[in-house]
Amino acid sequence: MAFPQSFLDELVSRNPIDEVVSQYVNLTRKGSNLFGLCPFHSEKTGSFSVAPDKGIYYCFGCHKGGGVINFAMEIENLDYPDAVRFLAKRAGMEVPEDAGYQSTYRRQERLWALCRDAARWYHGKLQEDCGRQAREYLGKRGLSAGTVTRFGMGFAPDSWNGLIDAMAKKGYEKQDLLDAGLALKSEKRGTVYDRFRNRLMFPIIDVRGNVIGFGGRVMDDSTPKYLNSPETVIFNKRKNLFAMNVAKKSKQGRIILTEGYMDAIALHQYGFDCAVASLGTALTEEQAHLLSKYTGQIILTYDGDEAGQNATKRAIPLLEKAGLQVRVLRIQGAKDPDEFLKKYGADRFKVLLDGSQSQMDYRLESLRGKYHLENDDQKVEFLKAAAWVIASQSSPVEREIYGGRVAEMAGITPETMKLEVNKAFKSMMAKRRKEQEKKDLNPAREQQPKVRNIRYDHVRSAMAEEGVLQTVLREESLLDRLRNLPGGQFSVPLLGRAYDALQQQRLHGGLVSLAALEGQFTKEEMEHLSGVAHKGSALVKEDALQDYVKIIREEYAKREARQDQDLMGLRDRLKDKKGLNG
Ligand code: GTP
Ligand code: MN
Repeated sequence: MAFPQSFLDELVSRNPIDEVVSQYVNLTRKGSNLFGLCPFHSEKTGSFSVAPDKGIYYCFGCHKGGGVINFAMEIENLDYPDAVRFLAKRAGMEVPEDAGYQSTYRRQERLWALCRDAARWYHGKLQEDCGRQAREYLGKRGLSAGTVTRFGMGFAPDSWNGLIDAMAKKGYEKQDLLDAGLALKSEKRGTVYDRFRNRLMFPIIDVRGNVIGFGGRVMDDSTPKYLNSPETVIFNKRKNLFAMNVAKKSKQGRIILTEGYMDAIALHQYGFDCAVASLGTALTEEQAHLLSKYTGQIILTYDGDEAGQNATKRAIPLLEKAGLQVRVLRIQGAKDPDEFLKKYGADRFKVLLDGSQSQMDYRLESLRGKYHLENDDQKVEFLKAAAWVIASQSSPVEREIYGGRVAEMAGITPETMKLEVNKAFKSMMAKRRKEQEKKDLNPAREQQPKVRNIRYDHVRSAMAEEGVLQTVLREESLLDRLRNLPGGQFSVPLLGRAYDALQQQRLHGGLVSLAALEGQFTKEEMEHLSGVAHKGSALVKEDALQDYVKIIREEYAKREARQDQDLMGLRDRLKDKKGLNG
């Protein structure tokens, strides 16, 4: 999406980063920067920094960073063009739309409107005569009228064109219904018909409150039990979670992740307003990221069957990678949370919830399941494996508690287990020490970027390149003195590109700031660049600039010479070969 650079420059200046961030984070001034608690990972001391003069933010903890557009993208969960629109609206600016983009956005708006109208229509049908059976079904499942309204549940009548006709009256075309996944086209006859028929309807609503799709459940034993909207331009299953629009407002401080729509809904009805459900697929990285924006703790309550347990195992590392603390709740005496609540009530569920297993208990339990403890050899194997798992805990108290638990599982004394854990702990410490020594011997490693996929191969030059960027970002007029230093001589292509882009901005009288370059760099690249800009002292070191340039040139010349040598070497070798052969 190409917005004109002059528009972006104005957008960035009219949305000062400190003002925008302050709407989400409490900031306090320390020197020229502002600090606060990072909104992108959970922390107790503020490592999130905003540099108003540079128009950027950077977190020293999780290394997220960028300009104001990146910030809007992250915090509001928007893509780039939508973040631009969001900020334009905030500053009361008109967005010069590129024709292609305009039509995509218009298209999305139309489909959002259609899905909302469809949801209203389904909801209305539930109250009519044709919805009697559906109402009875809901009653049988114990859902209150309040819950039905809160989730906007509805009923799709048993008709091939009920929705199509109703929506036609509101001005929607068949193509709109096809694009929203609400209708299907028969290949043979070319006719268009309603996708959802004789089903209970669950609207799926994104965090911004748009209806983006539906789940439809049969009310008997026919199959498929659930029919979901297909992927459309407004419905991306990887990025959304059912009921997230409600759970994001919860004050319960954690989010309960379930497998089924019905589980999430039942939890809400019983007072757990922090429940969400994945959309009938395995949890994705994007969903984990979405969750991490709203909470620090996830409680997994997947079904107790094998499929549910496998899904749990896969979800844990994804959630942990997103910085979330994970606990696992084992449902006993019922197949899922919905059934449990009905059988035993909310208080019993609360007990389960508070006693939900820590990740460590869960790992040990799962490990036990892999061995036959009646067999002595297997028992020994289990104890060794468990000792290693426990040894990873840094607190001796925790090692003792979990050691005791394993001893009990295997029927040995806690003292014996303690010896085993200590042995594992010692080997683990020795291994870590060796790794640390290796690291200490290689200081260049410390200078390596924290962002994946970006590596400094020529550390000396890279440090000078960072220095150039830091300096010109503080004093843009210095760019004029560097006109004969091309970014192509930088050893790190990303730093070279950023430098060239800043030169361009300066040349055309644009805003010389990383924040103005967001459209040209990926999120990861922006994170890295913001990190670079946040490093170093606040002083402009003009003298240092000359040294930086000298180093960059020298290192560039060395690389060139080496390349020449390599080429010459290659030519010589080729010649030798020829000499031998001929
Ligand atoms: P109830 O049986 O009504 O209690 O629903 P549930 O939510 O407990 O369903 P279940 O545990 O069987 O399945 C969990 C989730 O998987 C559902 O909420 C759906 O999202 C999805 N799912 C289940 N059955 C199907 C199916 O036949 N097709 C598709 N596409 N998804 C399904
Ligand atoms: Mn169920």
